[in-house]
Amino acid sequence: MSNQAAVWEGSIHPQIKTELPGPKTKALIEKDSHYLSPSYTRGYPLSIQRGYGAMVVDMDDNVFLDYCAGIAVCSTGHSHPEVVKAIQEQAAQFLHMSGTDFYYTGMADLAQKLAETTPGSPDKKVFFGNSGTEANEAALKLARYHTGRKNYISFYRSFHGRTYGSMSVSTSKAIQRKQFTPLMPGVFHAHYPYFYRDIFQSETPEACAQACLNYIEDYIFKMLTPPDEVAAFIVEPIQGEGGYVMPPASFLIGLQALARKHGILIIADEVQAGMGRTGQIWASQLYPGFEPDIMTSAKGLASGLPLGACIARSDIMDWAPGSHATTFGGNPVSCAAALKTFELLENGLLENVRVQGTYLKSHLQALAERCDVIGEVRGEGLMLGIEIVESRASKIKAPDLRNRIVDECFYHGLLILGCGENSIRFSPPLVICQEQTDSAVAILEAVLKKLA
Ligand SMILES: Cc1ncc(COP(=O)(O)O)c(C=O)c1O
Repeated sequence: MSNQAAVWEGSIHPQIKTELPGPKTKALIEKDSHYLSPSYTRGYPLSIQRGYGAMVVDMDDNVFLDYCAGIAVCSTGHSHPEVVKAIQEQAAQFLHMSGTDFYYTGMADLAQKLAETTPGSPDKKVFFGNSGTEANEAALKLARYHTGRKNYISFYRSFHGRTYGSMSVSTSKAIQRKQFTPLMPGVFHAHYPYFYRDIFQSETPEACAQACLNYIEDYIFKMLTPPDEVAAFIVEPIQGEGGYVMPPASFLIGLQALARKHGILIIADEVQAGMGRTGQIWASQLYPGFEPDIMTSAKGLASGLPLGACIARSDIMDWAPGSHATTFGGNPVSCAAALKTFELLENGLLENVRVQGTYLKSHLQALAERCDVIGEVRGEGLMLGIEIVESRASKIKAPDLRNRIVDECFYHGLLILGCGENSIRFSPPLVICQEQTDSAVAILEAVLKKLA
């Protein structure tokens, strides 16, 4: 029996007992579609009654294996008993006192933890918000405030959030911008070392990275904005929504050199890749020597409670009282959950990510040998992606097949999500065990055999 089953007392394998969706889920979906905003992107019909570890029980008592963790949010698993206890204890003390105006320990303790674990000197300061987009808004505003410059450079296929500043630096999907323009001015887009043959026809990821950096110097700086008007680059150390794309280290190190040469700040958006997901607390640590000036975190930070953080060097976070604030950011209950999340990461969970990440990746690679529609297996730790193509030889992207695979896995009890044009992401709770990966890969293989 795995640790997980011991801690949560429940099946660690999927059990589908009704037609999907079952009757209670059907009724919920009907009510939901009556009252909820149609802008939400619901895919397959999953409801949730409760969750434990990497398992989700729907309203009709069907049990699913969760390899998406509420989009990489439930880092310590659904309702980890120790996280729940920390939340309950804090909730019994006080729920809110506005960290904008008053002092409480959890906020300062968590800020210290973030300052000490992020790359570079711990001499940093932290601004708390409630979400990824708020963390990025803070970072974008801070970069303008500190440098006195107006422009930003971000990267194609990146996703930073849906409020106006974050949306303006995102280029993940055109639908996210449709009918919302004009956006924030002063944003220029550069190329991320994507599937390296796509844009620059490069032979290697490193050659592609160099071509991406050259594009910034030769085109953006010469034709669109002088570098001394650029406040910051905003970059994901591993692109999330863009397709779980990991650049070669030379890209981020080269970007850092370019930034330092021109006095431009680097904002690393670790909203999806951070908090242990890659087997390091921060994905930036995967690239030795990469020390972003500002870093943002959210999603897995508080194991499922809303919390965002913008962490910057103290000399950069130099804005005056009143220049930026929020009512709920750094809520004491969320801070308690985040401190417990750190404690769990440091006491075995991070090691579990490394071991289970290697196990999952090797099984996905072995599956790719058997299934010709898997084009590439990539990523680090438990942030892994597979690309779906018509065939490996043709390399033609197969987005429709990808969508059908994701849906069909649901009907077999496995929860996964797409990302990018034609990729599937695996971002399970960090508590998964080998037996669960065996189940997940077996389901995926059965689905691939049925559909491909
Ligand atoms: C890298 C990245 N940044 C920012 C965001 C936005 O976070 P939120 O939805 O909490 O605003 C996301 C969400 O998917 C993300 O993946």
